[in-house]
Amino acid sequence: MFSPTKEKVFMGQNLIWVMILLGQIHGYKSCIQKERMALLEIKKHMIAVAKEGESNFVFPTWTNDTKSDCCRWEEVKCNRSSGRVTVISFGLMYMKESSLLNLSLLHPFEDVRILDLGWNRFSGLFDAVEGNKSLSRLRKLEILFLDLNEFSSSIFPFLNAATSLTKLSLKANNMDGPVPVKELRDLTNLEVLDMSWNRFNDSIPVQESFPLRNLRALSLRNNNFSSSMGLQGKFAHIFHISRICKLKNLQELDLSGNKLVGHFPLCLTNLTRLRVLDLSSNQLTGSIPSSLSNLESLEYLSLLDNNFEGFFSFGSLTKLSMLRVFKIQLVPTFSYQNLLIICFSWICQ
Ligand SMILES: *[C@@H]1O[C@H](CO)[C@@H](O)[C@H](O)[C@H]1NC(C)=O
Ligand SMILES: *[C@@H]1O[C@H](CO)[C@@H](O)[C@H](O)[C@H]1NC(C)=O
Ligand SMILES: *[C@@H]1O[C@H](CO)[C@@H](O)[C@H](O)[C@H]1NC(C)=O
Ligand SMILES: *[C@@H]1O[C@H](CO)[C@@H](O)[C@H](O)[C@H]1NC(C)=O
Ligand SMILES: *[C@@H]1O[C@H](CO)[C@@H](O)[C@H](O)[C@H]1NC(C)=O
Ligand SMILES: *[C@@H]1O[C@H](CO)[C@@H](O)[C@H](O)[C@H]1NC(C)=O
Repeated sequence: MFSPTKEKVFMGQNLIWVMILLGQIHGYKSCIQKERMALLEIKKHMIAVAKEGESNFVFPTWTNDTKSDCCRWEEVKCNRSSGRVTVISFGLMYMKESSLLNLSLLHPFEDVRILDLGWNRFSGLFDAVEGNKSLSRLRKLEILFLDLNEFSSSIFPFLNAATSLTKLSLKANNMDGPVPVKELRDLTNLEVLDMSWNRFNDSIPVQESFPLRNLRALSLRNNNFSSSMGLQGKFAHIFHISRICKLKNLQELDLSGNKLVGHFPLCLTNLTRLRVLDLSSNQLTGSIPSSLSNLESLEYLSLLDNNFEGFFSFGSLTKLSMLRVFKIQLVPTFSYQNLLIICFSWICQ
């Protein structure tokens, strides 16, 4: 006789088998032939740009064996009921310098939602046939990671065609000059934009307003912005915060690690939906404005590593009932550094 627990385990195992079997009869589809061939084309392209001796490490599970289901290959995910590829991630590959990605290779993946091309050494995108319209072919693409490549700002005209994007990450590339806002204007669905760890600056006046009205999170961390604080005075014509301040839906804004000078940018206190504001590691001076209390949704505020001075009134914080983390370091008006990290919750992030 089985003890009751053993019986349960036994039945449980049978149930799993039945479910797997049903899964295969009902709805489970292996990847479609067209996309399988297209993945193998991508592999060929990547082998061609791989450094010498690296080609064996390029998508080793993507095999030419016709019995192999490409939905089970590493770096690939499918919608199991349609058998269409929905996620491709290229992973870390050692490529020759200045390699380009041929975007036409991606066109067969009509249902792809997430593309991760991070950690490669691509320096550019191209499509000899459709040019900068290429990415408009991927109508369902929602998330595009291009982090840790060597892309320059030359890829923006291509990105502007990916109008279904909700999240775009360009972290740690080789981008400098002003943020080419004009070349992002068609990305009206974009909610999250990460341009951190580049060298964007505000050297050239940008006349256009920031077009990304639906943006919820923007990171410009560790770039080379400096003059953005001159909103009212002589710098008013130059890109910046004044334009970011028009993004009324922003909930997260990270401008840390730049070279921002001048006073706390007052117009930021108009962004009443902000939950996270990080202005740390800049060169801001003056006192902290009392209108900070407008930011009633604020949960995280870091003003560390600036040159704020003077008296800071906690009174202006009492309205910020959501605030959990507040970091500030006031310039020594006495002989010691006045380091203040206040955590309103368990964890000080
Ligand atoms: C797969 O096989 C075909 C025909 O045998 C060949 O032309 C192609 O280069 C192979 N592709 C890969 C990625 O091995
Ligand atoms: C998966 O494919 C099926 C059939 O084409 C479709 O109805 C469903 O919406 C897809 N699921 C997702 C999450 O896209
Ligand atoms: C780019 O990819 C497309 C689609 O596979 C192919 O037809 C074209 O020849 C490729 N271009 C180059 C220069 O490799
Ligand atoms: C795309 O390329 C065409 C032709 O090279 C050019 O005229 C157009 O301005 C480009 N579009 C963008 C958004 O840069
Ligand atoms: C940062 O921008 C300044 C001009 O505003 C420029 O002189 C400097 O070279 C830039 N630094 C980097 C690392 O690009
Ligand atoms: C806040 O927004 C209002 C309305 O858009 C504007 O009139 C005001 O100047 C802004 N305040 C600051 C400090 O920029």
